[in-house]
Amino acid sequence: MKIRQETPQDFKSVYGINHLAFELEGESQLIEKIRKGNSFVPELSLVAEQDEKIIGHILFSKIKIIGESTYSSLALAPMSVHPDFQKKGTGSKLVTIGLQIARNLKFEHVIVLGHKNYYPKFGFQKASKWKIRCPFEVPEDHFMAIELVEGCLENKGGLVEYPPVFYEI
Ligand SMILES: CC(C)(COP(=O)(O)OP(=O)(O)OC[C@H]1O[C@@H](n2cnc3c(N)ncnc32)[C@H](O)[C@@H]1OP(=O)(O)O)[C@@H](O)C(=O)NCCC(=O)NCCS
Repeated sequence: MKIRQETPQDFKSVYGINHLAFELEGESQLIEKIRKGNSFVPELSLVAEQDEKIIGHILFSKIKIIGESTYSSLALAPMSVHPDFQKKGTGSKLVTIGLQIARNLKFEHVIVLGHKNYYPKFGFQKASKWKIRCPFEVPEDHFMAIELVEGCLENKGGLVEYPPVFYEI
């Protein structure tokens, strides 16, 4: 199984995997909209490929934290693994490699709104630790952040602003 950057030939498979994994089309549609906007980072739309078949996908896109100043960050959303291939480490590989690419691209931190028992193993912690707030009503421990550069979130608290398409789903 290899992780690589998505190409236009993968768009249909990525739509299908997200539809299957979430059992809804909202995330698939969100990805299609993000690709067309200026928050899209092509190098951070990654697919997991096995035997020339796409079995997983992860997307990180640009967001802002509006605090004392405006800070550029990334949101991890969404991610999905085909139900037949879950619990085999594919999701973990997508997250780990995605974070490494984000670091190489000089992003300093990543925000995720997701399962509170899944993301801490990669180093995510409650975003409230840094006074980073979510624009949506969510349980505090589901809204997390990770520093890609140690200490870079100190004094960067504020309200996260997602690209407009996130507010449409
Ligand atoms: C979440 C998801 C991407 C994980 O992919 P994966 O390839 O199965 O992940 P891994 O094999 O690396 O890790 C599996 C671990 O994650 C755990 N996990 C999966 N879904 C979870 C959830 N909703 N909450 C908490 N833990 C979860 C599994 O129990 C397993 O734990 P274990 O290693 O202790 O057995 C996949 O389950 C999926 O596509 N789910 C549906 C879509 C979704 O919820 N996406 C995430 C949105 S935040």
